[in-house]
Amino acid sequence: MGGVVNVPVGEPMRVDDDTCILAIETSCDETAAAVVVGGTRVRSSVVSSQIDLHARFGGVVPEIASRAHVDLCIPVIDQAMVEAGVGSGDIDAVAVTHGPGLVGALLVGVATAKALALAWNVPLIGVNHLEGHLAAASLENPDLPSPLVVLLVSGGHTMLVAMESPTSYEVLGSTLDDAAGEAYDKVARFLGLGYPGGPLIDRLAAEGDPEAVRLPRAMPGDNFDFSFSGLKTAVINAVRRDPSLSDADVAAGFQAAVVAVLVDKARRAAARIGAKGISIGGGVAANSALRRRIVEVCEADGLEACVPAREMCTDNAAMIGAAAHHRLAIDGPDAATLGADPGLGLGV
Ligand code: KG4
Ligand code: ZN
Repeated sequence: MGGVVNVPVGEPMRVDDDTCILAIETSCDETAAAVVVGGTRVRSSVVSSQIDLHARFGGVVPEIASRAHVDLCIPVIDQAMVEAGVGSGDIDAVAVTHGPGLVGALLVGVATAKALALAWNVPLIGVNHLEGHLAAASLENPDLPSPLVVLLVSGGHTMLVAMESPTSYEVLGSTLDDAAGEAYDKVARFLGLGYPGGPLIDRLAAEGDPEAVRLPRAMPGDNFDFSFSGLKTAVINAVRRDPSLSDADVAAGFQAAVVAVLVDKARRAAARIGAKGISIGGGVAANSALRRRIVEVCEADGLEACVPAREMCTDNAAMIGAAAHHRLAIDGPDAATLGADPGLGLGV
């Protein structure tokens, strides 16, 4: 480890089993840092959640998020380095999420990463947050089946991706309106459950009857796009029609509808591209029903289910370190002029 200096910007960097990357993630409301070695070995992964700061507003407040990142970024990085047992001389590159996300939040991570890379004289690399979610599965399974269908479901995105390798993929479809996590959060807010809604609905759904309220399975056409805003409206109408419905039954019915659509489309995408497996990523991939169903359909269809640990599905920096390892080998480091790119897309 250590000693990789003066790698020219934009030229592939030689990475190997010992390459040690410090990764930083501040795109939304988690301040996270991780030390990843060889692209797959997570020496530390520290995530400081700001949920308590945002909960009383019912969602993430960008200005509060940026300020909290300023306070937490260095302590979280310090903790990641201590837990990994590494010093600055062991770090071969500094990776940071530079988009998509909240611009102020991203800028905190990017500025910190630049300062560290400059001070330590090591390469800097900006990572696409969504590519990080795609790479999460490779942390547990370095030999992911190829091609692989990845269902990327988070608070901001819902996508089906055909992946050949962590740096070679194609977006097959995405949401036309709300993201899956956004639908969870909005339904939870309507039910007065709190924020973020995903884990709360997930827990409540386990106590409810998914058949008590039958909600539509929105399949906009024979393609791989999604639509969740109609489902949210259907939940609101069902509760207004029958106020005696229990929150648990509504949660169970809603979750059954979301999971059915996600799994059905992922399964058809796998059949269409001849995938050898299905993986999931993003915060909603922490959902217990989704995780269970993906394993079941993969078993039924003879596919490999690549389901990362829950803490690697929600926002973290280890996945950014993994993605950075693969990107450095192809694109090499970024210039010190790296900026935040809040609207960064995937595969364009
Ligand atoms: O990937 P992520 O941590 O942040 C974004 O990049 O958006 O995803 C956060 C989203 C939130 O909408 C949250 O409600 C949802 O993931 N989520 C869940 C669960 N845990 C988090 N949704 C359903 N079930 C869960 N267990
Ligand atoms: Zn995310």
